[in-house]
Amino acid sequence: MRLNKYIASAGICSRRKADELIANGNVKINGLVMKELGYDVVPDDEVQVNGKILEGAGKKVYVALNKPTGYITSMDDDKKRATVAELVGDIPERLFPVGRLDYNTTGLLIMTNDGQLTYTLTHPKHHVYKTYVVKVEGVISDSRIAKLRKGVDIGGFVTSPAKVKVVKQMPRYAVVEIQIREGKNRQVRKMFAAVGNKVQELERTAIGDIRLGRLMSGHYRKLTVKEIEYLKGL
Ligand code: URA
Repeated sequence: MRLNKYIASAGICSRRKADELIANGNVKINGLVMKELGYDVVPDDEVQVNGKILEGAGKKVYVALNKPTGYITSMDDDKKRATVAELVGDIPERLFPVGRLDYNTTGLLIMTNDGQLTYTLTHPKHHVYKTYVVKVEGVISDSRIAKLRKGVDIGGFVTSPAKVKVVKQMPRYAVVEIQIREGKNRQVRKMFAAVGNKVQELERTAIGDIRLGRLMSGHYRKLTVKEIEYLKGL
C-alpha cells in the first residue's frame, strides 16, 4: 500500500496531510526518514509518524455489500461500467470482492483486503453453501425441481446436489430458493436454463451463515467479529 494511504488508513489524517508529513521528513520507515511519496509499505515495515509507531494502519477490513444490478464485481472495467469498488469508495483500504456476481445479479457480496481469506473462500475445496432467491419465468414443475436437486448438465459439467425449494408459484412466474456449493460461471442461470426456466431476477441472500438481511441495495455493513471468525474457520 502507498505510504500516504497507509498513514491515512490509520485514521490520523487525510492522504494530503500524510503527503505533507512525508515531504517534511516526519515519517520514518524502520527507523529511517522516508521522503518518497510513492513508497510502497510492505507488511513487515514499521512506520513512525512524528516519532510514534503507527497502529491500526493496513488493518484488515471485511464488509458485506448488497450489490445492485448494473455493477460488475471487479475493481475497474475497460468498458467503463460501474464497479462494486465505487460502492465501498469511502473505505480507505482497497477492498476486493470475494468471488463474483454477474452484472445483473443482486445481493450479498463479501469484500475484503484479506487476501488469505479470499483465497480460502474461493478455493474449490472450501465450498460453502451459497443461497440464491431466483425469480423464473413460467411454471416450475416437481420434476424440474427434482432435476435441479439431483444435478443438471450445464454444458460439459454436471452440478452437484443442490437444496431447492419453491417459495411461490404464480401463473406466469415462480420464486425459488436454491443453495449450491459450487461457483461455476453463471451457474444458477445455466441450471434453470437446463430445466427450461429462464431466470428473470437473481439475488444472493446468504453465503454460509452470513446473511444479507435487511441491508439496502447499494449499501454495505462491516462484518461482525463473530462473522469474520466464522468465515476464517470454514
Ligand atoms: N449464479 C449465476 O448464474 N450468477 C451469479 O451471479 C451467481 C450465481
